[in-house]
Amino acid sequence: MRPVSIRVKLTAWYVLVFGVVLACFCISIYVMMESKLLHSVDRRLQTMAELISKTELCAVPNFLPPDFERRLNRIFGTRPVGKFVRVLDLSGEIGSRTDNIDEDKIPVNKDLVREVVAKGEIIYETQTPLGPDMPIRFINFPVKSFKGNKIRGVVQVGTSLGFVRESMRNLLVVFFLLVPTLLFVAAVVGIFLAGKALKPLREIARTTRHITVNNLEERITVPVARDDVGQLASTINGMLDRLSLSFQKINQFTADASHELRTPLTIMRGELEIALRGERTPEEYLETLGSSLEEVERMSRIVNDLLLLSKSDMGQEVMHRDPVDLCVLLTNLLSHFRILADEQRIQLSSDLDEVETVFGDQLRLRQLMVNLLTNAIRYTPAEGKINLALKNVESGVEISVADTGIGIPAEDIPRIFDRFYRADKARSRQYGGSGLGLSIVKWIVNAHQGTIKVDSVVGEGSVFRVVLPTEKKI
Ligand SMILES: Nc1ncnc2c1ncn2[C@@H]1O[C@H](COP(=O)(O)OP(=O)(O)OP(=O)(O)O)[C@@H](O)[C@H]1O
Ligand SMILES: [Mg+2]
Repeated sequence: MRPVSIRVKLTAWYVLVFGVVLACFCISIYVMMESKLLHSVDRRLQTMAELISKTELCAVPNFLPPDFERRLNRIFGTRPVGKFVRVLDLSGEIGSRTDNIDEDKIPVNKDLVREVVAKGEIIYETQTPLGPDMPIRFINFPVKSFKGNKIRGVVQVGTSLGFVRESMRNLLVVFFLLVPTLLFVAAVVGIFLAGKALKPLREIARTTRHITVNNLEERITVPVARDDVGQLASTINGMLDRLSLSFQKINQFTADASHELRTPLTIMRGELEIALRGERTPEEYLETLGSSLEEVERMSRIVNDLLLLSKSDMGQEVMHRDPVDLCVLLTNLLSHFRILADEQRIQLSSDLDEVETVFGDQLRLRQLMVNLLTNAIRYTPAEGKINLALKNVESGVEISVADTGIGIPAEDIPRIFDRFYRADKARSRQYGGSGLGLSIVKWIVNAHQGTIKVDSVVGEGSVFRVVLPTEKKI
C-alpha cells in the first residue's frame, strides 16, 4: 500500500474537524432560526387573538354578526392579510369566522378546545390541510368574560407557515452552497499550510539521505526558530556527532590494532629471514626461536585483550556477583608480585585493612589488580617503592596502588584509559606494553559500578585509587 504523506493526513484531519464544526454550526443556526421564526409567528397570533377577544366580536361566541369581516377590519385598521379568524363557543362549535377559510378545510379539534376551556390557557396547533408544504399554524385563545375569569369561548387566529418554510428552505440552499465551498477552501489552505510547515522536515530528510560514512561530518542546517523542527534537527546533528566520534574511534582502534600486531610480526619476519639466509649453529636457531616465541606471546596477549574488550563492548562478557574477600585476593597477589619486584630491585610494601565484602567477579577483580601492579612495576625504576593499600571508605572499599615511578604527564592522564594509548610510546613498548591494560581496568571498574582516580607527578610517582561499592547491587 502506498504510504499517505503527513501533509495529506494533516489536511484530511483538518478538513474533517472543520467540517464537523461547520455542520454543528449550521444545524444550530437552522434550529435556532426556525424556533425564532415560529416564536414570532406565535407572538403575532397571540396579539391578534388577545385584541379580538376583548372586542364585542366575542360577546356572543356562537353568533355570527352579519358584518364580521368589516368589524374585524375596523379593529386592525386594515384587513389582516393571510390570517383567518374563528370564534368558537365552549363546545367548539363555530360561531363567527372570516371567509378566507372553508369551515371543513381546518376541522375544529374539539378535544383541544375543551382543554383550552378547562385550563384557561393558550394552546398552539399546526395542521396541514393544504398539504405538507403548506402548514397552517393557529392559536386557540380562551375568551374571558369582562368581569371575573369565566371562559366564554375560544378565538382561533391562524396563518400559513409557508413563509417560515420558504425561509428555512432558502437557508438550507445557502448552507448547501456555502459548506462545500468552505470545505474546499479549507482543504486548499490546509494543504498549503501543511506543506509550508513540513518543508523544513523535507529539507532535513533530503540532507540526512545524503549523509553516509564518507561524509559523516556534514550537518543539517538548524532553523533559527527553536521549535519542534529545530529540536529535531539538533537531535539528528547530535546523533551524527556521536556516530562520527564512534566511527573515528573505531577507525583509530583498527589502525592501532593493526599497527600493534605488525610490529611483532615485522620483528619475527626479520629474525626468521636472517636465520634462513645461511647455516646457523643450534644456539643461534634456539635464540631465534626463543625471540619469535616472545613475539608470538606478545601478539597473543594483544589479541586476547582485544577479544576481551570487544566482547565487553558487545555485552557478551558475563560478570559474576560473588562475595569477594579482597584482603585474601590481594595477599595472594602480593606473594607473586614480590618476586617480580625483587627482580627489579623494587620495594613492594602493603597496608591491608580488614574490609567489608565486595560483591563481584573474583577473576576480573584479580585481573584488574594484576594490570595495576604490572604497570606499577613496569613504570618504576630500580630502587623505587610500591605500596598496595586496602581500606574502608565512605562509598565502599578503596584499593590504592602507589609507586615512586616515572609518573604520568598531566595532559596524558585523561587519555591513559583509552585503548592503545601510551604516555611514552617508546618506553612502554620497550617494556612490552601495548596500551590495553588500563582500558580493561576501566571496563572492570565500571562493570562493578566503581570509580578509578589517578594522581601523578612526573618523576615522583603515581597513585591509582579504585573504589568499589559494597552493596549487593552490581
Ligand atoms: N604506574 C604508572 N606509572 C607511570 N605511567 C603509567 C603507569 N600506569 C600506566 N601508565 C601510563 O599509562 C599508559 C597506559 O597504560 P596501560 O596499562 O593501558 O598500557 P601499557 O601498560 O602500556 O600496556 P599493557 O598494560 O596493555 O601491557 C602506559 O603506557 C603508561 O604510559
Ligand atoms: Mg599496563
